[in-house]
Amino acid sequence: MKYNFDTQLERSGTDSVKYDLRKAYFGNEDVIPLWVADMDFETPDFILNALRNRLEHPVFGYGFRSPDYHKTIVKWMHEQYEWSVKSREISFSPGVVPGLTMAILTFSKPKDKILVQPPVYFPFYISVKDNDRELVYNELLETKDGYRIDFNDLEAKLKTGVKIFIMSSPHNPVGRAWSLDELKRIVNLCEKYDVLILSDEIHADLTFLPRKHIPIASISEEAAQRTITFMAASKTFNIAGLSTAFVVIKHRKMMRTYNQRMDASHLYTGNIMGTIATKSAFDNGNSWRMQMLDYVNGNIDFVEEFLADNMPNVHFHRPEATYLLWLDFRDLGMSQKKLIDILVNKAGVGLNDGTIFNPGGEGFMRLNVACPRAVLQKALEQISKNLP
Ligand SMILES: Cc1ncc(COP(=O)(O)O)c(C=O)c1O
Repeated sequence: MKYNFDTQLERSGTDSVKYDLRKAYFGNEDVIPLWVADMDFETPDFILNALRNRLEHPVFGYGFRSPDYHKTIVKWMHEQYEWSVKSREISFSPGVVPGLTMAILTFSKPKDKILVQPPVYFPFYISVKDNDRELVYNELLETKDGYRIDFNDLEAKLKTGVKIFIMSSPHNPVGRAWSLDELKRIVNLCEKYDVLILSDEIHADLTFLPRKHIPIASISEEAAQRTITFMAASKTFNIAGLSTAFVVIKHRKMMRTYNQRMDASHLYTGNIMGTIATKSAFDNGNSWRMQMLDYVNGNIDFVEEFLADNMPNVHFHRPEATYLLWLDFRDLGMSQKKLIDILVNKAGVGLNDGTIFNPGGEGFMRLNVACPRAVLQKALEQISKNLP
């Protein structure tokens, strides 16, 4: 079946963060919203049908995640990543960020050092700082070929007693899908300094061919035993509002401890619609996913050509994964405040401010290209008309 990604949907009035919080976030409810990381594509029909089917039953009491649900995830891991995961190695979280936070609370103490790689997804900072842990930065290096890990700095930082390394893999916002070599070097260093890896792989299924996502826990037994992996169908199939993620923990004792924490917080139940949607996504979704990635890739081509023709001072490194572009406006030489003012109040486009991703974010804005091309074109034209 051929899917259509050009349909423009009216999402205002659906309690959508991206649409209905524009006034609160940008001070302007008319901006074209290309910020929050969900997609302006319809959730695929097979997921909607699975949800509709469940709605036919009039009771929504407590549910549980069945063996079939776990088998579906096991199969997806095997087919997509050649990663052998057992059902008992899969746990739950009502979202990737809540799961990361639970793991931080469970496997570290107040004041412990936790390392992140900025510029990076900003809730990592909140999960660490608001829980009284110390943030340590291993800033990514920008090269002419894109972002790279500064391994000398990483080792120097890990050596200072870091307990946990939170990875963004693939990386939001710079779009890197880490190579096997990079992952091996990370694991070697984490082994040397006995560091637990929390690997946020929520964008895994959004990796563009010929690049392949490699779950860090899949590369060796050592990696598997010191990693907790967080994944979800939410980004890829546009079901983030169903608050359903899964967590892979190969280390048995660590799994028991994580589950005890989830039970104690009564967070384990989840919601039955999220379970149904995830199962349907992985059981039926590969062809839709490939078509969607193709379309998004076309959008990235479109932005590349548009910038070359109309805004040659704005750049980005082509992402290997994710539908997020890390746009570099530094050549325009204007302050972040001025840049945002032009984008929001003159161009009428709402992007994520690069500075919320912390060091390395000044002069950047994050653009979400998971939208119909006509919307993207309109937004770029409005930006181009209003930039000096
Ligand atoms: C890297 C990353 N992790 C986690 C999330 C959010 O995950 P959840 O909604 O499951 O907490 C996002 C959403 O944008 C993300 O980009």
